[in-house]
Amino acid sequence: MKALVLAGGSGTRLRPITHTSAKQLVPVANKPVLFYGLEAIRDAGILDVGIIVGETAAEIENAVGDGSAFGIRVTYIQQEAPLGLAHAVLIARDFLADEPFVMYLGDNLIIGGVASFVEEFRRTTPDALILLTKVDNPSAFGVAELGAEGRIIRLVEKPQDPPSDLALVGVYMFGTAVHEAVRAIKPSARGELEITEAIQWLVDGGHEVASHLVEGYWKDTGRLADMLETNRHLLESIEPAIHGSVDADSSIVGRVVIEEGASLVRSTVRGPAIIGRGTTLVDTYVGPFTSIFHSCAIERTEIEYSIVLERATIRGIGRIEDSLIGRDVEVVPSAALPKAHRLMLGDHSRVSVATTSGH
Ligand code: DAU
Repeated sequence: MKALVLAGGSGTRLRPITHTSAKQLVPVANKPVLFYGLEAIRDAGILDVGIIVGETAAEIENAVGDGSAFGIRVTYIQQEAPLGLAHAVLIARDFLADEPFVMYLGDNLIIGGVASFVEEFRRTTPDALILLTKVDNPSAFGVAELGAEGRIIRLVEKPQDPPSDLALVGVYMFGTAVHEAVRAIKPSARGELEITEAIQWLVDGGHEVASHLVEGYWKDTGRLADMLETNRHLLESIEPAIHGSVDADSSIVGRVVIEEGASLVRSTVRGPAIIGRGTTLVDTYVGPFTSIFHSCAIERTEIEYSIVLERATIRGIGRIEDSLIGRDVEVVPSAALPKAHRLMLGDHSRVSVATTSGH
């Protein structure tokens, strides 16, 4: 069995974080989302992995390499434009040959992995096995309508009027019949060859399409709250480890990882939390459910329930909560007059400033 991982496309939902970089590489608990997928595939015993790449190919290839760091063999497949998930299957035909495969969307994260579903697929050999999960915003997903005994009646992509709250999770298992399906369908209204329609084509043609309900699923939908929540979930089970330096005036409480080269000076980290490689904390408090990525400098700040990406600088600005702070961002105080907030924010940034009047 092989795997096809989709890491092309263009990220519009997590803007501005993904204006310039691959959305599959946004870290949660200090690990890019894509890496959780690659590890899940490996843990399911699949070693031959094709990765679909688009305009961020260089960044993905730089992060994943030949796959040996994950114990897999990676073949990169260039997609000239994000023409749809079924288009990705179409261009991967030579790589996939006639083997069954798991297709994994690189921006999806399934807590607990996929080994049990792959095992079920191998045992029962349907033409397709899809995973479904209950969501509160089905219009943002492919949605399934199930009949008696969980039989799939209909699948619709991003319906305005969803027939159920069961969303298609971005992990699909296919036998060879899908190749005929992706050749048979036409581009949708948004100009993409939809995998949802290819699966519907299988259902209509009397092929066996099985489904399975999953819990512990996350997909970015542009909602910061979802990302912070997934970060919380993953941090709750990290293995505590102190590789960096912690001075005598600092303290670490609870489940905390301090990565190599990180240093704490007169600071407190109350877990679960992770402090990345080369990051320095000075006179700082890091509270529960916080992930600070590599090479950040944080001074005289309190930060909790947040994610900070690499090389961010935060200094002396009070308390930060519920926040996602991007790469190379600088948040610092200013004594300059007139006394004012001075901002340089990228497109689609969101800032909420705590005011004394409460407005
Ligand atoms: O995440 C689950 C959802 O994924 C399903 O519920 C939907 O049925 C399915 O269509 C898909 O929806 P999205 O529109 O959210 O997919 P997105 O455009 O975010 O692409 C998913 C991943 O695949 C992402 O990592 C980018 C990559 N991709 C996407 C397209 C369209 C490619 O590599 N090539 C492409 O052509």
